[in-house]
Amino acid sequence: MVGVLEVRHLTMVYPGRARGREKEGHRALSDVSFEARAGEVFGILGPNGAGKTTLMKILANLIIPTSGEVLIAGRRLHPRAQARWVGLSTGEDRSFYYRLSGWQNLEFFGSLRSLGRARLRQRIEWCLEAVGLEGASHVKFMKYSTGMRKRLNIARALLHDPPILLLDEPTASLDPVSARRVRDLIRDLKGQGKTILMATHNLAEAESACDRVGILSSGRLLAVGTPQGLRAMAAGRSVWLRPAERLDALAEAELLALPGVRQVRRWDSQVILDTGEVRATLDGLVRWAAQGHSLCDIRVVEPALEDVFLRLVAEAASEPAGPSHPAGQKGVRA
Ligand SMILES: Nc1ncnc2c1ncn2[C@@H]1O[C@H](COP(=O)(O)OP(=O)(O)OP(=O)(O)O)[C@@H](O)[C@H]1O
Ligand SMILES: [Mg+2]
Repeated sequence: MVGVLEVRHLTMVYPGRARGREKEGHRALSDVSFEARAGEVFGILGPNGAGKTTLMKILANLIIPTSGEVLIAGRRLHPRAQARWVGLSTGEDRSFYYRLSGWQNLEFFGSLRSLGRARLRQRIEWCLEAVGLEGASHVKFMKYSTGMRKRLNIARALLHDPPILLLDEPTASLDPVSARRVRDLIRDLKGQGKTILMATHNLAEAESACDRVGILSSGRLLAVGTPQGLRAMAAGRSVWLRPAERLDALAEAELLALPGVRQVRRWDSQVILDTGEVRATLDGLVRWAAQGHSLCDIRVVEPALEDVFLRLVAEAASEPAGPSHPAGQKGVRA
């Protein structure tokens, strides 16, 4: 697949000032490189202050990076051309006019994009319907709920029909129904072939909605991969079993001696075998049970994206600051 959006060695240092004198700036992004492909949902997953919004703003040309470059369809574009390719939906709603209706707001922002009258009307209708606001198009923005404001924000990003959509925390502070609606919309837009970059700190959302995810922490891109691929980077899988009777120390020692088992833990009435070789452990467990140990339940538990996320972020926090080389990243040209 084609790399529609390519980010190369982006670094952003916000200038700092102390009592009128220059002081060392704040490094929000450090040597970030990745590419997003046509028709993919690429998640930027990171804790507060990781640099997600900074990255989005650079991609939308709202701020100029200290160094590095952004390529769209393989080329560095003039800001005007880049604006046609990209639509940004931010989490904030202060940029809307509170006394204007949803329709009037879109009319205003659409006119800034030089869309002709007829085309603009057609696009506003389409966008309001896409985000489910067609019934509230003449309601003043100040009367919109948080979810409606967020959806209007996405509608505004879609007005000029950009091939690349940048969504900064599109479901943050939404109730489950509104969040589901936005996720369905993201799926539809992906189906239309749009490339979607979505910043989030919702791990479940990243796992279910994104084709690939980049983990960003303190401005460094720590890993890039499919949610499944990233999960595989976690320490390994575990086998959970529920014995019919409480195990004695000897039985526990036998479990620890099974092939692949690294550790035996207890959780409530269950016993957890942390293993690097699930099949060998299961084979051993079947033999062990046949020696007279009765089991009520056996389950193989996959590591969650959360395990990888927490591990990488904790590791990065204990390393000295500086550029990083993301694990699991493919297809990035230096
Ligand atoms: N205009 C600015 N001037 C100076 N520092 C800034 C500016 N904007 C952001 N920062 C700093 O840059 C870092 C990254 O901020 P950014 O808003 O990009 O993070 P984020 O991942 O979007 O966080 P959140 O999850 O809270 O939205 C933070 O430490 C922030 O304080
Ligand atoms: Mg942010």
